[in-house]
Amino acid sequence: MSDTVPIEHPARLRSGDFTEADEPLRLFAAWFEEAKRAEPSDPEAMALATVDAAGMPNVRMVLLKGFDERGFVFYSNEESQKGRELAANPKASLAFHWKSLRRQVRLRGAVAAVSAAEADAYFASRPRSSQIGAWASRQSSPLESRYAFEKAIALKAAQFAVGPVPRPPFWVGYRIAPTVMEFWHERLFRLHDRIEFRRAAVGEAWTKTRLYP
Ligand SMILES: Cc1cc2nc3c(=O)[nH]c(=O)nc-3n(C[C@H](O)[C@H](O)[C@H](O)COP(=O)(O)O)c2cc1C
Repeated sequence: MSDTVPIEHPARLRSGDFTEADEPLRLFAAWFEEAKRAEPSDPEAMALATVDAAGMPNVRMVLLKGFDERGFVFYSNEESQKGRELAANPKASLAFHWKSLRRQVRLRGAVAAVSAAEADAYFASRPRSSQIGAWASRQSSPLESRYAFEKAIALKAAQFAVGPVPRPPFWVGYRIAPTVMEFWHERLFRLHDRIEFRRAAVGEAWTKTRLYP
């Protein structure tokens, strides 16, 4: 049986020398910039994994709203399933998959709430309809019908008809401070490059290890 000829993709040919990087946040920033240019939609979409009280994993997509040396931020409803899971076990893992670039980034770490001032500032920057929607959604609770949701939205829109919409107290930001970050880039014949960075704690130095694909 002869080998099949691989379908060539330009992204496979320009892995760049990311394996030389010695600091994962700068590498993430560079890859994220490329993803913003290359991905047709939502380059900031990331899978967020948590575990429930019985240790059962749970995963769903959320949007990255900022990152720096303190960690990776997303916003959600603290009364949602993920919010309850993070309250009981404030640890999480994130995975980005940028299909157009044939790249994956994974990270793991402890989770803390962003400050009220930071959440207020981000909430204030959102479209008014999204702000009203945040008030009207009891995220992850059973919803009787679409009509019931639309009614709740109309009631909140009337309640906040005048002036700025304040941030709901249950609408919060979470920051994941990574102690492990892994960068994966597709190579031909499944001989991918994988580089893992680890540190004992936030503020400590990173160590780098190449992993078998
Ligand atoms: C691309 C994408 C982005 C999303 N971004 C968010 C987000 O930033 N925050 C959020 O609470 N839910 C977001 N969601 C919805 C979540 O995936 C999920 O359905 C919701 O948060 C309820 O999850 P839970 O029941 O596990 O708490 C997004 C969904 C998709 C597909």
